[in-house]
Parts: sequence; structure tokens; C-alpha cells
Amino acid sequence: MQVYGLLGNPVSHSLSPPMHEAAYETLDIDARYVTFEPDPEALEAAIGGADALGIAGLNVTVPFKEAACESSLVAVDDVAARIGAVNTIDFAGTPTGHNTDAAGALRALDEHDIAVSGARAVVVGAGGAGRAIAFGLADGGADVAVANRTASRAHDLADDVPGAGGYGLEAVPTLLEGADLLVNATSVGMEEDVSPVAAEALHGDLAVMDAVYRPLETRLLREAAASGATTIDGAWMLLYQGVEAFELWTGREAPVEAMNAALRGRLRADSTNPL
Ligand code: ATR
Repeated sequence: MQVYGLLGNPVSHSLSPPMHEAAYETLDIDARYVTFEPDPEALEAAIGGADALGIAGLNVTVPFKEAACESSLVAVDDVAARIGAVNTIDFAGTPTGHNTDAAGALRALDEHDIAVSGARAVVVGAGGAGRAIAFGLADGGADVAVANRTASRAHDLADDVPGAGGYGLEAVPTLLEGADLLVNATSVGMEEDVSPVAAEALHGDLAVMDAVYRPLETRLLREAAASGATTIDGAWMLLYQGVEAFELWTGREAPVEAMNAALRGRLRADSTNPL
């Protein structure tokens, strides 16, 4: 039996176990996906221990993504190195570190037939999620503008992303006038029914994707739909980062529908039985 898992703290509400175990069941793979919550100082020991125990693969989440990228035990690929964060470790041979958040965002857009190449994209948020999404969109050929509450973080990120511009949040309405794509990569909308973007700035020529998935229908997506925009909820990015990790680990095409059904089933159950 192969063991896969998630390193993070906390991980008790993670949606990755049901999503990955649905894939194993569908493809008849003898594997389990378990969660681990090491102490923040024990990350290196946890990675070395996982390797020694024969664990096949680990996802990495908050607060370990950046430290995993610095780990002396992990050979980090180019994408993860540029983003500065690892969310997937493959233990086949020398442990290798990858970042599937960028590719996951692109696949979420592709699933909805949203063209990225040549698109004018506005990413709101310059934290870990914003970084991965901005790099992914730029690699996909989009013209990227990053806007963030703390404008200096947007400038720093834009300096690293080819061709990108960095702005404060006040620039968002103007940036959206000519934009094709808006991605919310902040946590705004998770705790309260608020949106990071004024409803008046949204329009029918936009595709709007939210990284927030609790709730699935955020205020941003509700107002985007009302403006005639195409909307893509946060479960799609979560799904496709997992699909990409599964495919890296197993070399097999992921059973996307089964993974999506498991993920959305758990989200629905959580929303009727709040965390
Ligand atoms: P993650 O890894 O999930 O991106 P993070 O690195 O803590 O988490 O980044 C959180 C993002 O949400 C940041 O872009 C943050 O803006 P700041 O850099 O100014 O902190 C943004 N964010 C969080 N709360 C916000 C709020 N109330 N209004 C606007 N942006 C907010």
C-alpha cells in the first residue's frame, strides 16, 4: 500500500483526503491519504522521516510551503523555485518539490474555456496564493496586473513576474475596465459576506475566479454573476492543484470527475454542519 499525505498546521478540515482517496478508489489504487501536523520547527525532520518511511508523496500547505522550498532534503523544480513555495513533494528517488497551484489555476480556467494567452488579467492579492496564480497566468501568456491592500507587496511580486505591474487596491476599478480576467487571491469573502472588489467595477466581459471556497458562492462571485461575468468558484483551483499532484505522483491521468464529486460533496456536508 502506498501512503500519501498532507503536511500543514492545522489540517483537520482539509478537503484533500476525500479528494485523493476518491481517485484511488476509482482507479483501484492501493493507497491512503493521511494528514500530518508537525511542529513548525520539525518540518525538516518530518520530510526526512517521510522519506525514510517510504511515504510516496506529500502535499504541503500553510505554514510550511515556503520552508519546504528551502529544505536541504528537497530538489525544487523551476516553477516552485520561482514562486518560492512547494506544495507537492514526490518521494520517488530524490525527493523533488513542485508547486501545482500555478498549473491548477490554469487548468481551472481551461475547464471553463477561458483563454489565458493574450488575456488582460488582474490578480487581487500578493500573498502565497497570489504569487502562484500571477506566475501561472504570466507563464500562460497573460498580461498580469497584481493589486494588493499593501501596495509594496504587489510591487515586489510584480518585479518577479515577467511583464507584470503592481498596484494598490484603489487601482482595481480602472484596471478592470479593459480586463478579461479577475482572480481573487485574498482571503476576503471567507469569514464575512464582503468582496475585495466594488460591484460597480465588474462587467459582462470578465471571467471572475475566486480562490476562496468556503463559502463556494462568495459575494464577489454573486456580484460578478449579476454583472453578466462568467464565474469560477474556488473549488476548481483546489481540485486542479490536487489533480496535478495526483498525476505527478502516479504518472496516471486523474479521475477528475470523481475527485470533483468527492470535494464538492465534502464542502456541501461542511456547509450544513459548519466547521
Ligand atoms: P495566502 O498564502 O493564502 O495568499 P497570505 O500570504 O497571508 O495568505 O496573503 C493573504 C492575502 O490576502 C494578502 O494579499 C493580503 O493583503 P496584505 O498583503 O495587504 O496583507 C490579503 N488580505 C487579507 N485580508 C484582507 C483584507 N481585509 N482586505 C484586503 N486584502 C486582504
